[in-house]
Amino acid sequence: MSSAIGIDDLAFATGSFRIDLAVLAERLGADPAKYYRGLGQSEMSVVAEDEDVVTLGAAAAQQILARGGADGVRTLMFATETGIDQSKSAGVYVHRLLGLGPNVRVVELKQACYSATAAMQFAAALVARDPSEKVLVIASDIARYELDTAAEPTQGAGAVAFTVTANPALLELEPANGVYTEDVMDFWRPNHSTTAIVDGKTSITAYLDAVAGAFDDYLTRGGAPFHAIDWFCYHQPFTKMAVKAHRHLADRAGSASDPAAVAARIEPTTGYNRRIGNSYTASVYLALLALLDGDEDLAGKRVAIASYGSGAVAEFLTGTVPANYRTALRAAENERRLADRVPVDDATYLALQHAARRRDPSNYETARQTPAPFRFGGVRDDQRIYEPTV
Ligand code: HMG
Repeated sequence: MSSAIGIDDLAFATGSFRIDLAVLAERLGADPAKYYRGLGQSEMSVVAEDEDVVTLGAAAAQQILARGGADGVRTLMFATETGIDQSKSAGVYVHRLLGLGPNVRVVELKQACYSATAAMQFAAALVARDPSEKVLVIASDIARYELDTAAEPTQGAGAVAFTVTANPALLELEPANGVYTEDVMDFWRPNHSTTAIVDGKTSITAYLDAVAGAFDDYLTRGGAPFHAIDWFCYHQPFTKMAVKAHRHLADRAGSASDPAAVAARIEPTTGYNRRIGNSYTASVYLALLALLDGDEDLAGKRVAIASYGSGAVAEFLTGTVPANYRTALRAAENERRLADRVPVDDATYLALQHAARRRDPSNYETARQTPAPFRFGGVRDDQRIYEPTV
């Protein structure tokens, strides 16, 4: 008999600083309620000068290693759209920082915010071929838009790490999944640019169309009907987007979708993203983690993951939560991680955002700022320097 395959452990890391969106609202001349209620965001994480996607990803994965959960890992997949090199995978740096052995394959995957879900499916296929295999997936991103734009309050930074194994502790994947791809220019980042280009209104429509297309495909492949899914974790560029998506699917399914009831249904998935901001590839897994860490009893429940990456690719899949899942969580530690971030004022935030632009990209040192386990020391002769902080 084949055993279940899915997510066995799930941890996150985020930037060392945070900024309250009311601070941004003051500079941008907006009502803070537009961000708090209109977008469903209260604050966003800001990375220190010596943090990047490698240090965030390594800090997330280290928590899994600390529990012995990555023993026997033979594959590390690094999902990101915040590429630090056109050739070398960010995962290879993480592999060294974590002290993983040489007999590991490492690869980086890209398709905007979607690629961690592709990584999870590829990982599940590897585990199906050899159930003794463990795959470490890391999704890590820093969302940056031009300053003084409508998109600025939807930035953020974060990483998740998760292991995909047989007999998983947190989520057993069901076989049905739905996928959808359409070439659309809603959001992209050309090679010469450190910030993304976005057509905000188009991106919202593209997201809704793609998630609906993926859900329809999921149904044709034997997926559970809308009303048989207990919880929905959507990609959350801002948490209100998950509410919009859920209302869209509910309307199409002919389910009653009173706006307040929809918002309440999505609320348990939003606790982390509301405070971290958009973490692109990590976002939908932070929604899942917030749900798992929360008060709802999920044992035996069916949970959907609705993953979207601009450009655009979406996937809709479901899994069920095993009975003893709470023993595999670290909810108090996760709350501390968020609370420990240092609040910054607008001037400090702006200085951090502009730091990269002032430098010679081939040679620079970063200031020692992060209290996280790993730091990015800068670039020497075009080589990136990573080191443990202790
Ligand atoms: P905007 O045009 O400034 O905002 O930008 P708005 O005028 O549409 O207002 C936003 C909401 O606030 C509205 O609510 C307003 O009514 C409300 P809605 O009608 O949508 O429910 N509002 C207020 N509420 C309470 N009190 C007030 C108030 N004023 C207004 N006083 C936009 C919003 C999201 C377009 C902008 O932030 C943006 O461009 N963000 C970046 C793009 C983005 O996040 N797109 C999401 C879908 S695409 C995606 O998810 C992929 C992505 O993650 C990238 C990837 O895949 O790699 C982005």
